[in-house]
Amino acid sequence: MDWNKIRSDFPLIANNPDLVYLDSAATSQRPASVLEAEKVFYENYNANPLRGLYDLSQKATECYEDARANVAKFIGAKPEEIVFTRNASESLNLVAFCLSSLLSAGDEVVITVMEHHSNIIPWQQACKHTGATLKFIECDDEGLISEDVFRSAVTDKTKIVSMVHVSNVLGVKNDVKLFAKIAHEVGALFVCDGAQSVPHMAVDVKDLDVDFLSFSGHKMGAPMGIGALYGKYELLNKMPPFLTGGEMIEFVTREDATWAEVPHKFEAGTVNAGGAYALSAAIDYYNKVGIDNIAAREDELSVYAYKALSDVPYLHIIGSTDPLQHHGIFAFTLEGVHPHDIAEILNADNICIRAGHHCAQPLLQFIGVNSAARASIMFYNTEEEIDKLADSLKTIRRRMGYGE
Ligand code: ALA
Repeated sequence: MDWNKIRSDFPLIANNPDLVYLDSAATSQRPASVLEAEKVFYENYNANPLRGLYDLSQKATECYEDARANVAKFIGAKPEEIVFTRNASESLNLVAFCLSSLLSAGDEVVITVMEHHSNIIPWQQACKHTGATLKFIECDDEGLISEDVFRSAVTDKTKIVSMVHVSNVLGVKNDVKLFAKIAHEVGALFVCDGAQSVPHMAVDVKDLDVDFLSFSGHKMGAPMGIGALYGKYELLNKMPPFLTGGEMIEFVTREDATWAEVPHKFEAGTVNAGGAYALSAAIDYYNKVGIDNIAAREDELSVYAYKALSDVPYLHIIGSTDPLQHHGIFAFTLEGVHPHDIAEILNADNICIRAGHHCAQPLLQFIGVNSAARASIMFYNTEEEIDKLADSLKTIRRRMGYGE
């Protein structure tokens, strides 16, 4: 695989040879084939899908449903088990809202301290509305959650476990296959937030045996505003709808309504067919490069980045001391320098990173920092870019007036 050549597939990267983009955990860059696909949809197949009886609308429906099948295949699901949403946050809101009917006082929902806000707040709301208790599992200094810690948190009171697959701050990967099995032993449902795993490694929902999995298209080369929720068919079928209105119904009277078949029951209003078509093109791109090749390249870059960042004086990497437990994500602090200053100085050097709480305030409170800088790597990054980051970081304390 020529990883340098792959950079020319991404117009923003190809058009900005001096830009070092290290914020792919926030949003990835898009390949030209995805940008072209969205244009192809609107230039050739645009009509409101799922409604029209004329050929063009039926073609739009076909594009949309073919995209669903492609997404399903990518994660080992059946097409009817994929609900298109705006993003992972909406997917998790849908699950938490629709599973609330299972909860009452005395029940427990178990999440972890390393969740993104999108996998905390929907459960906080669900617990507030039902009287259920929200419990947090904590990780160790390396960011790991052991089987023993997990087993001691999950009891016969547990109705739902919702857990991130790969943390957007620590980069650590949770053993969701094992944890889903343990959750099922006590009769709980297992929800997995795959926002940072699906774009970076092979994820098979049947192998993991998770009940639900959420992810966003924009972190894997697709446009913003298209994401997906996988749910086991029998569970989706039993759940009430989330948003209501157009196209999610079977029959409506003045007093009541019945629902369309899954997954349409969960897709109220005009759908983002152009986004789904482009997400499907992103998956075609991933299939061409190979998800295992992508994972291996990102591991290679993680090992390189861990070493490069470890060589920067006064810099502390948050999370595991094992580079392979970072999956391209390196949150860090630099003694005496606010993370926002780090990001601004790097910006002056044409390097893009994220700084702040990374939508994971409970995790940062647990770690004991208010804020952190984060460089996140994707397969289109290079060793040279990581060197530029490290070289620039080495100058920051001097540029802030700390001397050499
Ligand atoms: N969840 C995204 C991030 O971690 C936005 O940056």
